[in-house]
Amino acid sequence: MEDSLIEVSEATWQRLAAEARVASAHAYCRYSMFRVGAAALSRDGAIARGCNVENASYGLTICAERNAIFRAIADGASGIAALALYTPTRAPVTPCGACRQVLAEFGHDELPIRCFCDGADVAVLTLASLLPHRFVLE
Ligand code: THU
Repeated sequence: MEDSLIEVSEATWQRLAAEARVASAHAYCRYSMFRVGAAALSRDGAIARGCNVENASYGLTICAERNAIFRAIADGASGIAALALYTPTRAPVTPCGACRQVLAEFGHDELPIRCFCDGADVAVLTLASLLPHRFVLE
């Protein structure tokens, strides 16, 4: 996938944070009751929302981040330029390992990720900080 860095403005981060928060309201989380929302910015500027969707067969649950990324790709994105996550927690929550590896497929080491919550803190991260030495099939 494309690997050059795209500059994301603060206004766009605010939009991504708002979209991730909206997405969390759609979470299907009857087992964990933990709402998660994500917003993926595609390289062409489109924003795809995702929420976690759980299943009675727990392992089939999909995270908000992967839903947002897969939706962006399904809508024609050539790559992911940024990802915002929102959880209704006091402190930011960061993406799980599976989502980090999926981000690695469509992003690059410097891909910016911001994790928003109900507290004032925002985790400002890159893919490489979350998943150093990531697996890539060259
Ligand atoms: N979850 C996410 O959506 N993203 C993460 O990065 C971590 C966990 C969801 C999966 C499950 O529906 C719930 O949170 C509790 O683990």
